[in-house]
Amino acid sequence: MSKICINIAWPYANGPIHLGHAAGSLLPPDIFGRYNRLKGNEVLVVGGSDQHGTPITVTAEKEKSTPAVIAEKFHNINKKAIEDMDIEYSLFSKTHGANHIEVVQRIFTDLLNKGYLYEKEMNQYYCTKCQKFLPDRYVEGTCPNCGAKDVRSDQCDACGTTFEPGDLIDARCIHCGTKPEVRPSNHFFLKLSAFNKELMEFLDDKSYWRSNVNAYTKNWLKEGLIDRAITRDMSWGVPVPVPGWEDKVIYVWFEALIGYLSTSIEYSKMIGDPEYWKGFWKNPETKHYYFIGKDNIPFHSIIWPAILMGAGGLNLPYDIPANEYLMFNGGKLSKSRGGAIDIPSVLSEYDVDSVRYYLSINMPDTHDAEFTWEDFQTKINNELVSALGNYYHRCLSFAQKNFGTIPDADTAEGSKEVTDAIASALKEYDECLSKCDFKKGLKVVMELSRFGNRYFDSSKPWSLVKTDKEQCGRVINNNLRIVKALAVMAWPYMPSSSEKIWEYLGYDESLEKAGIGAAVSELPAGRALKEPVPVYKKVEIPEENEKDAEPTVENDGPFKDFRKLDLRVGKVMSAEDHPDAEKLFVLKVDIGETEPRQIVAGLRAYYSKEQMVGRKIFLVSNLKPAKLRGLMSQGMLLAADDEAMGGTNVLLLKPSKDVPVGTKMNSGVENTSSMIEYKDFQNVKMIVSRISEKKILSNSMEIELPENSPERVAAVIDGDKAIVLSDGNGCVATVDSEIKDGAGVR
Ligand code: MF3
Ligand code: ZN
Repeated sequence: MSKICINIAWPYANGPIHLGHAAGSLLPPDIFGRYNRLKGNEVLVVGGSDQHGTPITVTAEKEKSTPAVIAEKFHNINKKAIEDMDIEYSLFSKTHGANHIEVVQRIFTDLLNKGYLYEKEMNQYYCTKCQKFLPDRYVEGTCPNCGAKDVRSDQCDACGTTFEPGDLIDARCIHCGTKPEVRPSNHFFLKLSAFNKELMEFLDDKSYWRSNVNAYTKNWLKEGLIDRAITRDMSWGVPVPVPGWEDKVIYVWFEALIGYLSTSIEYSKMIGDPEYWKGFWKNPETKHYYFIGKDNIPFHSIIWPAILMGAGGLNLPYDIPANEYLMFNGGKLSKSRGGAIDIPSVLSEYDVDSVRYYLSINMPDTHDAEFTWEDFQTKINNELVSALGNYYHRCLSFAQKNFGTIPDADTAEGSKEVTDAIASALKEYDECLSKCDFKKGLKVVMELSRFGNRYFDSSKPWSLVKTDKEQCGRVINNNLRIVKALAVMAWPYMPSSSEKIWEYLGYDESLEKAGIGAAVSELPAGRALKEPVPVYKKVEIPEENEKDAEPTVENDGPFKDFRKLDLRVGKVMSAEDHPDAEKLFVLKVDIGETEPRQIVAGLRAYYSKEQMVGRKIFLVSNLKPAKLRGLMSQGMLLAADDEAMGGTNVLLLKPSKDVPVGTKMNSGVENTSSMIEYKDFQNVKMIVSRISEKKILSNSMEIELPENSPERVAAVIDGDKAIVLSDGNGCVATVDSEIKDGAGVR
């Protein structure tokens, strides 16, 4: 029996944890902890809420609350969510607790006394408009290394590079958008360079680490072991235990990492054995595992080991099985698309073991994984329910109905196939889990359940029970042995359902206590079986969620009003003056239909009849026909008008290329063309403007343009999005001559 210390990344207490946290860093350590407990190892599982730092202060500002209130609120919500996920910690603590603050300050003072911390003036972003120093998250800009946009000023999530103030390109204050100054301020620095040799030696024998962990760590080392500032100009956090430093706090990363140690100490006090933690932190035999997401890697593979080395006499990380990300709709995480994914919401809809199954079988261990509700439904229904759940239930209910107790075992050759299958599955499972290869471990379990189903089918107990009940009993005993092995091996993944199966098998003693050996042990014949109830049920994702989850643009997405328009290229065949209105033309316009359309248009002040005839124009072709001064108009021509911009121009829109009449100008979006009212058209915001570098000059919006676009184009605007009016095939809407930028289209 060995001691294992399981350290779990601390989720920020600035929002409810969601499926991404669970799949990335919270569920894997629980599987690992349970697996080790099954093996009889003694585990200490520590972690908690990361309550300091700018993620908390930013959220507090947004919610018009205080950091203390936010940090406490989400700590409680997340502590409960973690319990509801059946994720077991020895202690789920928090960084704003008295014990943590005390331990952090002690380590800080210790490192300071040993000369591993020193004071230095450091450059920092300062916003002259907001009149304050800006912490990392209050400044965003472009990564100088990979070019990713809107990255935080401390680290690029895309490439992992860490930054110093001034590194970021086009930095801006997230409050006011001002480009911040870089100003000096005094800070404490961690002398990482002092641990250079020791860190290299530490990393030297870590070739067994996952490749992403090695890659991120190497990437960091490439920048050199630069000393890092570990204090910040803000008031929310662990106070710097040095007089005169009252307006600064210890950097959130430096102190949160110490949380692994502080929580171990806190737990020891809690159980009345204050020295208990030493068996995990000071006994060199104890292995330390850190379960984190990939963005946390360098903090755990370099900074934390350095702090531990500085403190001295404490165990360094043994393994850091960092996961990649679980992605939602290509990175976005939103409520409207497919239902909320925060843990409390998910658990209000689905059984915890279904959620744990899906997150385990779709775990982002070696690469990012995609989460969709559709895939969730498929994997639960077609794998968990059909293979494992179905096998459990057919065996247990058949045995209970036909025998009532566990039938006698098969001592003959017949059972060897089953014994071997269980033993080899267990061996492979053990290899996977001991290496934190959880996804593969679960696949082994599912494979054994498929073997079970095949064995059940091929031995036909339903007919055997009528012809040879004794033989049928032996077959059932074999099946129940497989059921038992499955329950034991599935327990780390899906504890509550596995425990139910265990109960149906008639055990009093707990599954955990029986241990991993129970997977291959004999079944005591004669023990009473309990009436089983299926432990997994099929899920049905609400229709609306499935639809919303589709990546296609929906009718109520952007440009919803524009989509209603059926816009066509037309050619003016003839032009007459309206008999009763001096401003109106009566036109015949060909849009490729059998008959040209009659259109009444107010253009006489701007165009002559000669200019009109033969012209290609744009027609709103699905406008409800209406009488204008007594004459029917079957549509409307589009023209730009800069009157509102102080101009006097009215210009007809025209295609930039000679495309055939009837060409749809729907900008490549799906068009929902039924008849529309004039007010539907009025809801569409269309402008004409010049373009520079794919930006509309009148309002600096980005826009996609085909090659060789004319100087001016018409664009449809919806909220913060704009598309150029086009046929989706290189032909765009433009005008003949100058008009003020931003001219409206009517
Ligand atoms: N709160 C950090 C995050 O969510 C993780 C901190 S892990 C710790 O990215 F070890 F530093 F606490
Ligand atoms: Zn500012």
